[in-house]
Formats: sequence, C-alpha cells, structure tokens
Amino acid sequence: MQKMGLSFEIQKTAESGGRRGTLALPHGMVQTPVFMPVGTAASVKAVEQGVLERIGPGERGAEIILANTYHLYLRPGHELIARMGGVHRFMGWERPMLTDSGGFQVFSLSSLRKVTPDGVEFRSHLDGSKHFFSPEHSIDVQIALGADIAMVFDECVETPASWERTKDSMGLTHAWAGRSKDHFEANKHRVPWFSEMQGKTQSLFGIVQGGMYVDLRKESAEHLVEMDLPGYAIGGLAVGEPREVTREMIARTLEWLPKDKPRYVMGVGYPDEIEEYAKMGVDMMDCVLPTRAGRHGLVFARGEDGGIVRMNIKRKEYAEDQGPIDATCGCMVCARYSRAYLRHLFVVGEPLGLTLNSVHNLHFYLATMERVRAELA
Ligand code: GUN
Ligand code: ZN
Repeated sequence: MQKMGLSFEIQKTAESGGRRGTLALPHGMVQTPVFMPVGTAASVKAVEQGVLERIGPGERGAEIILANTYHLYLRPGHELIARMGGVHRFMGWERPMLTDSGGFQVFSLSSLRKVTPDGVEFRSHLDGSKHFFSPEHSIDVQIALGADIAMVFDECVETPASWERTKDSMGLTHAWAGRSKDHFEANKHRVPWFSEMQGKTQSLFGIVQGGMYVDLRKESAEHLVEMDLPGYAIGGLAVGEPREVTREMIARTLEWLPKDKPRYVMGVGYPDEIEEYAKMGVDMMDCVLPTRAGRHGLVFARGEDGGIVRMNIKRKEYAEDQGPIDATCGCMVCARYSRAYLRHLFVVGEPLGLTLNSVHNLHFYLATMERVRAELA
C-alpha cells in the first residue's frame, strides 16, 4: 500500500448512503465528500492560488482542484509543463489535483471531429489546427501534467441519443478505458514528481457511461469494476437531461460501484444538487458553475428558510444596498464588501468584481460540503 498513490478510508456511512471519508493522495489529504473547483487552463478563473487555499469554512481552502488535459495540451503544451516540473509546480499549487482526460472537452469544444476506434481527430477551438487524441495520447499528456488523479479517455454521448447509439459509444469508451489503463500502467513512473514522492504514482479513475439507459449504466459499471481501478466516475450527466433523470442515473449507478472506492460525479451541479448527491453516497464532484456564474454576476446566497437564493448582482435594487451578499456566509467577500460595491464593480466591468463573485460562490460551495460532511460524521 505504501507506494500507491491513493488510499481511501470511510469513517462513517449514513442510512441515506452518504459517506464521510478521507482520501490520501501524493500531494495531500482530501476530506470527502468534496467539491473540486475547476481550473481549466491551470487557473481557477479569476481566483489566485493563495486565495483558493484560504476560502471555505475555517479558511482551510480548496483541498483539490481540477485541470483540463484538452486545454493544457493545446496551450502551453504538456511537454512544456513537464519541463516546468509538472502542473503543480508550474501553477504554484501544492495540494492535490485531478485532470480530466480531454474526452468530454474534445466532444463539447472542438469542431470537425472524426471518431474512429483508434481515437478522435479534431480541430482546435482556438485556431482550427488539426489534432489527434487517442487513449494513449491522453494518458501521455496526463502523466506529463502529473495531477494526483488522471481519468480514462472516454466518449460522452450527446443527449438525447438512441439506445443503439449509446451502446456503441459505451463499447468504444470501454475499449478506450482498457487501453488507457494499459498505457498508464506501462508509463506511470514517468510522472514528473516520481522520484520526489518516493515512487508514488498518479491514480487512474474509470468513467461509467451509458447515457440515460439504466441497463447500459449497469453494463458499463460492471465492465469498469472488472478492471479494478482505484476510483470510479459517473460521466455523461448534466448534458441537458431533466434533473430527476440525473438523480436516477446516479442513484442506480452507485448501486453497482464498489463501496470501498471513491465515487465521482463529473460536471455537477447547483448547490442543492451537490448536497443531494453527496448525501446519496457521491464522494467527489466538480463543476464550473460557481466560477462561471460568478463571472456572469450570479451569486448564491442562503434564504431565511435555508433554501438557495440566486441573486443577480447587477440588478438596480442593489445599487445602494449596504448589506453583504449573504450575512450568514462567512467568506472574505461578505465580511468586507457590500452588494452596492459588488454591483458597481460588475456594472463598470472591473475585473475585481469577477474575482469577488467567484470567491464568494466557491466559498458557498465549499461551505455546503462542509455542512454535509458534518451531518455525515
Ligand atoms: N465532465 C463532465 N462529464 C464528463 C464525461 O462524461 N466525461 C469526461 N471525461 N469528463 C466529463
Ligand atoms: Zn460570501
């Protein structure tokens, strides 16, 4: 166990299925269930790493963040990042990280994709240049970046998609998962920090697909569990389906995933959703929502009944409002700045406005998970 890059301990499982756990990774410990801020291009947009380390309850900060293989491969290039010592050292972040494989981004951002059993040919969303991603290439890029957790290269099927189309896509994802694992096992010692971390390695997670079909979700989960990976993600969700369907797919898929390994739902969700899924037994989640919404002037607050209120900070009614976004929040933004000031920053286009909205929203998400962890403990 010593040399492994991951160990996961569950302290307690609630009747609801929710688990209070601790995930140990090469760059540190993560208390679960956890929300992971998204740092697409090795930056959580508009929020500096030193601040990221201090947001959230007790100023404990974000314990793990995410970066994207697709973006960092295109710019500045994974080989450059490897020469800089890996993504941690490159961006000055010493805590755990996870990279998504590029599967989802190739399908959502690039154009003129040509999918073959071997991989995906696509054109960059930046300059139209031609590129090719295979499972092996995604793994090479992720090893060069050196996040604590890497993801298998997958295809996320569009929604709605027929059962036949979804089954074919799932078959491709399964073949790619096998190739991702083989290539990872053969090359994992090449991670930039291998010798610094006493021979610890990254860990490779599988991704369950199967669209909105319960029978395919089961087949996908069983196939991946057979591969004996150290953790499992549920992908292909929050792609436009109704929320009840997302919940149903998560609830059913959790039944077929091992109880003793971390379970990660990719790309969700609103604050009430992450709370709900954590209580169902999801250990990890990530979403661009807190930062993306913040940059659009949308901030989250808790209403008097404990429910979630979405406020549009640019509204005229806040022009002379001296109160904070949320008097119960406890974040560094709510401690210092009024709605009136935040509205002003946003309306005149000051970059600080984007930063402060994002910091508040990230704190809100981390505080939500802290509360869930306390309830599960
Ligand atoms: N992010 C959100 N959904 C997905 C998915 O299905 N696959 C991958 N690789 N990343 C995701
Ligand atoms: Zn706040």
